[in-house]
Amino acid sequence: MPALSEAVIHPATRVRGAIRVPGDKSISHRYALLASLARGRSTIRNYSTGADCASTLACLRALGVEIEVARGDEGRGPTVRILGHGLRGLHRPSGALDAGNSGTTMRLLSGVLAAHGFTAVITGDESLRRRPMGRVIEPLTGMGARFASDGGRPPLTVTGGDLRAIDYTVPVPSAQVKSAILLAGLQTPGETTVREAVSTRDHTELALRVFGGSVTAGGTAVSVRGGTPLHAVELDVPGDISSATFWAVSAAALPGSEVELTDVGLNPTRTALFDVLARAGAIVESTLESGSGAEPRGRVRIRHGGLRPLTIGPDEVPGLIDELPALAAMATHGGEIHVTGAAELRVKESDRISALAAGLMALGADVTELPDGFHVRGRRPLTGGTAHAAHDHRLAMAFAVAALGARGPSLVTGADAVAVSYPGFFETLAALTGADG
Ligand code: S3P
Repeated sequence: MPALSEAVIHPATRVRGAIRVPGDKSISHRYALLASLARGRSTIRNYSTGADCASTLACLRALGVEIEVARGDEGRGPTVRILGHGLRGLHRPSGALDAGNSGTTMRLLSGVLAAHGFTAVITGDESLRRRPMGRVIEPLTGMGARFASDGGRPPLTVTGGDLRAIDYTVPVPSAQVKSAILLAGLQTPGETTVREAVSTRDHTELALRVFGGSVTAGGTAVSVRGGTPLHAVELDVPGDISSATFWAVSAAALPGSEVELTDVGLNPTRTALFDVLARAGAIVESTLESGSGAEPRGRVRIRHGGLRPLTIGPDEVPGLIDELPALAAMATHGGEIHVTGAAELRVKESDRISALAAGLMALGADVTELPDGFHVRGRRPLTGGTAHAAHDHRLAMAFAVAALGARGPSLVTGADAVAVSYPGFFETLAALTGADG
């Protein structure tokens, strides 16, 4: 196992500044996958700088796709040019495909490969190899693909081919599962439908339309008509709201704070965070600006305005799933949060309920772990201490935000995990807190 890096976090009284966060991780994965299945050369600007999205590109290269990565304009992520092979046009890889730490890569790629007439193995790092894949294996097997796995965990061996369309109700709301089925359905004759009890992020649906796919959505059902060829496009990825969340919650937590998030994605399936922050007392102003492609984007200003207790239940969880560690960190600054219906957190990059509780408690917070959530009661200042990121990027960032409210310096171990989604996180933290000089 590689050595764990450590980050020292100094207390801060407030955060102030304007920030442009890296390109959205969820959207970058989808644009790269769809560009590979389109005909012609697509251009994706401001591609995510995170390691997860690099894993998707590495897998696509191993499937024969020609990909060029060039520096982006000043302050923006790289420009990625992808020469697509058309639907079902990927080549059999010569070795195992490595999805690294990325659940999205493994699950979405499973859907793509389910429709290809060859066998491929998809594996990943230690964290990913512990994560459940039965949720994609089941529907894709129902469509006609064959899978071998380690009791529903990676490595996955997928043997794809001619599939049949299905109408599938997802047992636990998951954009990754929905997307895997839609990507298989895209390459399958007939209409494939996915139904969810609660809507999840709709980036795949939006991207499919931009690439020329035939998609219909109504209520919580979405259908794709298979076989419609995709065409190459030029797209620009908005900033990742889940990365921006760490600055938004810091501003909401610390009196006198004000941050402005520029060019951030404002897809309504991802913006529940801002409603929750307003509910907690923060002053949130968002302005929609136009951008290329179908993804709304704009700027958001967040100012501290008190920190009221929050309750988050099962209906709200799918729209906030990646934001919950950051909201827990916010609550340590004298607020309070009660979260239930979030058992999915236990099967993320770490067990995000027990590792979150352990890390926050190590910093002196008052946290109760629940089977499907947690309760945090604010206590300011925290004593500070050493929190372990458990190889989980969002936990490393959440612990850093909590540690801003400690009496003295704290340590986050395994801090290098931030590279999965936000490589420059600690530099931006120093700039916003005035700790960089
Ligand atoms: C993602 C969906 C969510 C989220 C993950 C990214 C996506 O996972 O937690 O970080 O890009 O579709 P689930 O689909 O497992 O809820």
